[in-house]
Amino acid sequence: MTEAPEYPFRNPSALEPPPEWAELREGCPVATIRLASGDEALLLTRYDDVRQVLSDPRFTRQLDAADAARVTANESGGVFGSGGSSMSGDEHRAWRQLVGKAFTAKRVTAMQPRIQAMAEHLVEEMVTREAPADLVSAVGFPLPVWAICDLLGVPDSDRDRFAYWSDTMLSMTRFGQEEIDAAQAEFDAYLVALTEAKQARPGDDLVSELLSMVAGLDGRLTEQLVLGTAKGLLVAGHETTANMIGKMVSMLLADRGRWEALLADPKLVRPAVEEVLRYDANPGFGMPRYLSEEVEVAGEPLPKGTTVICSMAAANRDERQFERADEMRLDRSPNPHVAFGVGPHSCIGQSLARTELQTVLRVLLDRLPTLELAVPVAELRRREGLVVGGLERVPVRW
Ligand code: HEM
Repeated sequence: MTEAPEYPFRNPSALEPPPEWAELREGCPVATIRLASGDEALLLTRYDDVRQVLSDPRFTRQLDAADAARVTANESGGVFGSGGSSMSGDEHRAWRQLVGKAFTAKRVTAMQPRIQAMAEHLVEEMVTREAPADLVSAVGFPLPVWAICDLLGVPDSDRDRFAYWSDTMLSMTRFGQEEIDAAQAEFDAYLVALTEAKQARPGDDLVSELLSMVAGLDGRLTEQLVLGTAKGLLVAGHETTANMIGKMVSMLLADRGRWEALLADPKLVRPAVEEVLRYDANPGFGMPRYLSEEVEVAGEPLPKGTTVICSMAAANRDERQFERADEMRLDRSPNPHVAFGVGPHSCIGQSLARTELQTVLRVLLDRLPTLELAVPVAELRRREGLVVGGLERVPVRW
């Protein structure tokens, strides 16, 4: 390859991966790519290399490094630019440890019946309207923000405001700067009030638990912790899961045999969710890392100051790791995909994301066994130019 290819690559169609993933995995595992900003970066596409870099603390997530390429579409560092993921080193470790103690698998398990009620409610509402409906806007986008509200202890009556703030803060194009600033300010003010309310009357929620763990900490720092964590969870956990719901349903309906197999054997739901996470051809940008010293990857020395992008999705299709990687096998086991990353920054919300995806899928299978795509797969369109990949709409009927 003479000139560095432009990144992100184009997918041939909404559910197919770009051919460059396989080409680079085979021929050029450390590839120079050109970003929209004009900067160059290195792209890793092999499973072992992606794991190596994500696990290595010398590759930092710090987006404000002086020599860092301007890799993301917006100046704030894109979707992972706030909360834990914009921190590195000791600060990040301390945040992770604290939030990890409160955001436990046990807490998520306890949330499952409420997530199920949310999914049932949203699917019922969708069914009362006329088919076809857009699954992304009817179920995909509301459910994860409602789940995060539940996690944080935000009352149900406030969750639509939360959804608005989240949409506005995340959107890079739909809202003007004034609206974005106003949403940001309202969101911050709401969380300060929520923190005070939880201090006065703790509940069984993440904010109350965080507050109990940092009791005695200076008020300003406490406020910053709650604000940063809530924003980080919303920013990293809303759009990712919302898009994944749409992608999951379209991947499963794209081949009727998959849907029928799930109807015949509901035990497949768990492994099927892992397989759609692995198989996702629209993951978005990939996670940039900056090199704080020279490191060798795939036998090549990478100089200090290099920007490296790990394509988890390309790694998830690596034949060296996954037998018949280009086949979707609903019962694939084991399935050590890296859709949630690995290492110190791996997804802190992965058990919540899994619970949401499994629950939505079960509700759809139970309530709408005749569900089908209302347009040919070839007509599904990707959302272009965003940090988190997804489909514009997933029109369905039943
Ligand atoms: C299907 C849905 C999801 C996917 C595919 C996903 C994917 C990821 C990935 C790949 C990372 C690692 C980024 C990196 O290495 O730099 C990550 C980090 C993160 N995720 Fe998720 N995520 C999902 C859902 C969620 C949910 C539901 C939450 C919380 C409510 C969440 C919160 C976070 C946070 C806070 C981080 C940053 C962790 C850190 O830097 O220590 N994610 N996610």
